[in-house]
Formats: sequence, C-alpha cells, structure tokens
Amino acid sequence: MNLKLLGAALVVLATLVSNPLWAEEASAGDRTATGGAQTLEDIMARQEQLKVDESFRSENLGDPANAAPSTDQLGTNGGLSNSDVYRAIRYNEADVRTQARTPAATVLIQDGGMPWYKLREGPLITYGGLALLGIIALLAVFYLIRGRIKIDGGPAGTTIERFKAIERFGHWLLAGSFIALGITGLITLMGRSFLIPVLGPEAYATLAAGSKWLHNNIAWAFMLGLVMTFSMWVVHNIPNKLDWQWIKAGGGIFTKSHPPAKKFNAGQKIIFWTVMLLGFSVSLSGLSLLFPFEMPMFAKTFGIINSVLGTDLPAVLAPHEEMQYANIWHSIVAFVMMVAIIAHIYIGSVGMEGAFDAMGKGHVDLEWARQHHDLWVAEVEAKQGKGGSS
Ligand code: HEM
Repeated sequence: MNLKLLGAALVVLATLVSNPLWAEEASAGDRTATGGAQTLEDIMARQEQLKVDESFRSENLGDPANAAPSTDQLGTNGGLSNSDVYRAIRYNEADVRTQARTPAATVLIQDGGMPWYKLREGPLITYGGLALLGIIALLAVFYLIRGRIKIDGGPAGTTIERFKAIERFGHWLLAGSFIALGITGLITLMGRSFLIPVLGPEAYATLAAGSKWLHNNIAWAFMLGLVMTFSMWVVHNIPNKLDWQWIKAGGGIFTKSHPPAKKFNAGQKIIFWTVMLLGFSVSLSGLSLLFPFEMPMFAKTFGIINSVLGTDLPAVLAPHEEMQYANIWHSIVAFVMMVAIIAHIYIGSVGMEGAFDAMGKGHVDLEWARQHHDLWVAEVEAKQGKGGSS
C-alpha cells in the first residue's frame, strides 16, 4: 500500500472514530430547567451518536482558578459535586495529578467510548461481514463460470520439487495460525450481535474467554510464520517487468492462456505483499492491544502523515484514544487480509488442479509447473542440467 493510500485510509479512520460521518445533529433542546446544564435529552442524543453542540459546557468552565484544581485533591468535597471541576477535567483544562502510576492514570474522563463502540458494533461488523460474504459469493460465481482450472492436456506424471519441508512448515504455521486468529477474532467481534442471541450469555462468556486466550497466544505463531515466509520468499517476490505482462494478460484466467512466470507470478506477489505488509500492521496494532497503553503509535503515525501529506489528523491523542484507533485499525486490516486469503485458499485448493500439491507434498506435476511457472522450471532444469525428477 503506498503512503498516499495509507494516508487516505487513516484520514477516513480518524474521521470515523472522532467524528462519525453518519451522526445527525441533535436539536439544541431547552436547558433552562437545568440552569444551563445538560439535560437527559443531551445524554440520550450522545448515546444515539447524534452530534450534540457541546459549547454550552465546553465554554462554561467557571472560574479558571476553581476549574483548575492543580493542588486540590479530588474527593475532598464529600457529597458536593463541583461541576466546574468535572467540566475542566472533561475538556482537558485541569492539571490532574493522581497517585496511580499507570500510563493512562491522568485521564479521568475520555468520551470516545460510544463512537468507538458504535463504529465497532455497526459499520465494522456490517461492512466487514459483507466483504467476507461478498468474496465467497464472487468465488462461487467464478467457479460456476470458469470451473476448475485444469492442467491442459492432463498431468505429465513426473514431478518437480516446489517447496522444501521448512518452507511448507513456515506456510502452514502462518496459514494455521491465521485461520485460528480469524475465527477467534470474528467470535470476539461479532459474538455480542450473533452468538449471544443463539448461545445465551453464559455459554458465550466461556467461548469468548477461550477465544481471547487463543487469539492472544496464537498471535506469536502467526508472527513467527510471517518472519519465516518473508525471509524465505522475499527474493522471489521482487516485482519485475514480467509481472506487468502477467497482469495485462489477466493471468490468462479468462483467455485460458499461460503468461510466462518465474517462481511466483504477479497474482501471487500481490498475495505475498498483502500478507507481509498487512500482516506486519496487524501484528503491530495487535501488540499494542496486547500491552495496553504501552505501545501508542497512532498519534506519531498521524504526525508523520500530516507532515508528508499536509493533512490535519489528530497528532495528540489520549491513551484511550490510541487504544480505540488500534482496535479499529486491527479489525479493518484483518478483514482486508481475510478477503485476500479466502481468494488465495480457493485458488490454492479447489480452484486449480495440481496447485495444492505444492504445499501438500512439496512436489508438483511437471506439466502444471511448465504451464504456470515456465521460466522457473527452465531455471531449475538449467541448474540440475536435466528434466524433472519423479
Ligand atoms: C487452507 C488454506 C491454504 C491453502 C490450501 C493454501 C495453499 C497454498 C499453495 C498451494 C501455495 C503455493 C502456490 C504455488 O505453488 O505457487 C501457497 C502459497 C502461499 N500461501 Fe497459502 N494456503 C492456505 C492458507 C494461507 C494463509 C492463511 C496464508 C497467509 C495468511 C497463506 C499465505 C501464502 C503465501 C504468502 C504464499 C506464497 C505466495 C503465493 O503463492 O500466493 N496461505 N498457499
């Protein structure tokens, strides 16, 4: 993903989290009954994600001396509530000191929770879910139209080594962990909407706790698989002129031709770089979620993007906002990866005759290899000084 695209994605993300696009303006309402303080309607409107004009309280912090309790201890007022103090805390005008020494200790009020929650329960589940169902439907239609991609003229019967055991181990470590992370991640994200109504809260609580535990621990296997496959295959995935030819020919998928390719064709390189770059990003945001408040990265990233693209992303974020961004970004990236990987799984199994053997047995039929990776076969044969082995 180039920087401009990444910047645009983050601008959309920042807008969604801090200022939901779908929010309608709430009517100002009559606050005379509360002496100018917020009304029940204001609270309800905020929970409904309506935009509330906050100026009636953000511009009403009272006496600045009173509103900045830099030396006073909170809680010494007994039953008395000092609204000026709480408004000052809410709008970050109070110099708060606490005895707790955790990274987020000085944030007493952070009101990004509802927008984050609504974004997660609403558009994220809806569009993410639709993307998964969409790619499955698209592949089903593709299968009906194109059918299984066969080896022209049938298999040769002799084979050639495609992946060594260590490469297959790396692939299956990555693949197995990714699938487990995808399933447990979806259970965590969608459970409240889809599983609690079916399983009930008690059974779901057990499932959710198990999913979270698995998700947090399997993540390490995924990262190891990512490093292994990256280091073993990056040399074969450097883009070159051939890739452009392959893309122009649409991979030969519809014309039923076989554009020349080395070890990996352009389609596979796209999968490789999607998995590596998004895998890196999903791992980083995942680590940031795994160690709350210890790895803030969005304010810094937004700052860099602002300086490069001249955008106006928030470069100062409360620790909780960092966590909200990390959570939403982690899910968006995971959905994009899942869509790409579902297509990859299709083409590596039912979609193409002879493909699965590459990762299943490590050896592929020579005719399959000649049709899909002719230049790679020529390289291997030149090195060996002979044809394929059986
Ligand atoms: C059941 C699931 C899967 C199957 C059947 C499968 C199958 C395959 C096959 C057959 C190849 C080798 C293609 C060739 O010989 O050229 C391959 C390569 C690869 N796989 Fe998978 N795979 C699966 C899941 C995954 C997952 C979950 C990931 C990553 C998260 C992944 C990442 C890759 C990458 C990066 C490559 C090398 C580039 C490419 O061929 O596209 N695979 N896979």
